[in-house]
Amino acid sequence: MKSPKRPTLRTGVVLFAAAMTAAFSGFASANEKTAAANTGPDDAGQVAFNTHCRNCHSVKPDDNRLGPTLHNIFGAPAGQAKDFANYSGSLTSEITWDEATLDKFISDPKSIASNTTMTPFAGIQDAEQRKLIIDYLKAQRKES
Ligand code: HEC
Repeated sequence: MKSPKRPTLRTGVVLFAAAMTAAFSGFASANEKTAAANTGPDDAGQVAFNTHCRNCHSVKPDDNRLGPTLHNIFGAPAGQAKDFANYSGSLTSEITWDEATLDKFISDPKSIASNTTMTPFAGIQDAEQRKLIIDYLKAQRKES
């Protein structure tokens, strides 16, 4: 025997869920528009970083992920992120991260750290993308 109230309740839940979905997708698309509007040429570095690096790296202080934090990395000695346990051991403080070393490392990590743990990362062949990312890391340093 079915209770007559049940279908009504279920219908109510379905309608509520549908309304929430509609409300949420409206919200999401409004958000997307804002994000798109904010993506000008100045954000190209951020986009490039997000595309190639953010899976493993953050630029926030002490925020180690699969890779060490890149907070203030520009101008800093290599291999010094506090509490990062996944260094290969090849990145020592004898290396300073500047335009030249970063460019080399990002194009081919093994050229600087032959046993690097920065994998799977194939390296970026496009010099323009590398420059955008390096400029982004430089700007992060200025802001903090
Ligand atoms: C698959 C994860 C992964 C990706 C993607 C990745 N990295 Fe890394 N990164 C690592 C790991 C792991 C290390 C430590 C490498 C080592 O010790 O050899 C590292 C180290 C570094 C270092 C040295 C940090 C230090 O403390 O000396 C820099 C700089 C760096 N990555 C920049 C980048 C940039 C820029 C990108 C994007 C173009 C990128 N990485 C993409 C995982 C990643």
